[in-house]
Amino acid sequence: MVRPIGVFDSGVGGLNVLKHCAKLLPEESFIYLADKANMPYGNKPKEEIARAAYACADTLFSLNCKAIVIACNTATVTAAEQIRSLYSTRVVVGLEPAVRPCIKELGRRGYAVALVTSATFSSERFRMLLENDKRIVPIAAPELAMMIESSKDDIPRLNQYLSGIFRDYSDAEAVILGCSHYSYIADIIRDIYGGNIKIYDGAEGAARRLKYCLEISGLAAQKGETKPTIRFLSTYKKMQNAESRMQN
Ligand code: DGL
Repeated sequence: MVRPIGVFDSGVGGLNVLKHCAKLLPEESFIYLADKANMPYGNKPKEEIARAAYACADTLFSLNCKAIVIACNTATVTAAEQIRSLYSTRVVVGLEPAVRPCIKELGRRGYAVALVTSATFSSERFRMLLENDKRIVPIAAPELAMMIESSKDDIPRLNQYLSGIFRDYSDAEAVILGCSHYSYIADIIRDIYGGNIKIYDGAEGAARRLKYCLEISGLAAQKGETKPTIRFLSTYKKMQNAESRMQN
């Protein structure tokens, strides 16, 4: 039996990461866990985010996952290191704001806005990624992930909110989507900039990293081994002692 790959986020954000993983690894099966009981991660203290993220990792590994993808920037910058040391023999792939690829491609006088959750904004890992490069302007958007989770189709509302955020940055060269939920608003941001903006999203990079990790550890599914499936789970009640109650 081919063991699945676990992917988790606090809600719908990680679905974009899942999409990239499933496209790049069509022979693999996946379990997607949306930790809705703890959404939003981005407004919680780091201990709480870490606790929720461990519980998700624990749930997915106990469902026999051969690898997990933390499809959430907030959980990755807060807890990926600890999860990796807790599960040191397992493949654990994280999703980080794509600051480095953006810095590499940024024009000398250009600058980019990195849009993140409050928890990511104040995390040490995010500060490290920024490398003190003044050409990256970090902005925390505390309400945004929840707005997207609850009404991602309310384009006028999101447009108004985002126009307010980007008003002072109309000459930015690029925007970094530093939260997996923000992949849903990429088109709105493009519209605000009249199409004249580069958008960086870490989802594709995370999928490539997953593929690489599976290959070097000999865990990649072989072509035709089994029929790939994707199972969706969601927490609906506060998890206790790393146990989640789930509904399919
Ligand atoms: N999707 C998560 C991220 O990538 C954050 C959403 C939340 O605040 O729960 O950062």
